[in-house]
Amino acid sequence: MRIPLIVANWKMNKTVPEALSFAGEFLPEVKDITGRDILIAPPFTALLSMAGMLKGSNVLLSAQDVFYEEKGAYTGQISASMLKDAGCEFVIIGHSERRQHFGETDGTVNKKTKAALKAGLKVILCIGETLDERNAGRTFEVTGAQLKEGLKEIDLSGIVIAYEPVWAIGTGVTAAPEQAEEAHSRIREDLRTLYGRQADETRILYGGSVTPENVDILMAQPDMDGALVGGASLKAVSFVRIVKYKKTGG
Ligand code: PGA
Repeated sequence: MRIPLIVANWKMNKTVPEALSFAGEFLPEVKDITGRDILIAPPFTALLSMAGMLKGSNVLLSAQDVFYEEKGAYTGQISASMLKDAGCEFVIIGHSERRQHFGETDGTVNKKTKAALKAGLKVILCIGETLDERNAGRTFEVTGAQLKEGLKEIDLSGIVIAYEPVWAIGTGVTAAPEQAEEAHSRIREDLRTLYGRQADETRILYGGSVTPENVDILMAQPDMDGALVGGASLKAVSFVRIVKYKKTGG
């Protein structure tokens, strides 16, 4: 049974007071939701205060990145055990913005994932193709390689995959539901090749311009196990609606 997972990725947004004010508005609205996992990934600076606010609620805390070393002279970095200590249960690794702007590679994704799992965190591992790669017909070659390299020597339990086509992130262009489903089922197929039946228990999330308007039809696709939401997760009312998606045929 794959329990749907809806994630707010706030990226570099919200001060501590803003984060707490969001939580104050959001938590009462979602407190009765069962059968869905809900996750918020604020910036590092708001993790600890958010952990206090989310305690005892049905909303879990995630970080947006982690470094792979345990401790030492790595100015500016945050380790997996520090995230655990701050109250995180999950961490997002390999987001395309990190690959694009901060030199993240499948190799660093692999090291970070191993470090996070070792510290007892669960990992949302992001993969996805650029527009040029899609236009060149290389989508599944790219996602397949990202999976294989990113997950090298790693067991699938504790891993959630997020398929985020780069061309759909923050652009307002969402993958068509059939396009997203095609990618998800292909990713599950690749996971089956690598892991056998465990692939059927692994959640695959879609990310890229998910909104209250398109979440219902996206979530109606059979291989869609949740959403990773950026822009539309910044306002409580919008993220509440996304968390409360109802599957529709469209
Ligand atoms: P978006 O971002 O919803 O703003 O497109 C999604 C993501 O990058 O996780």
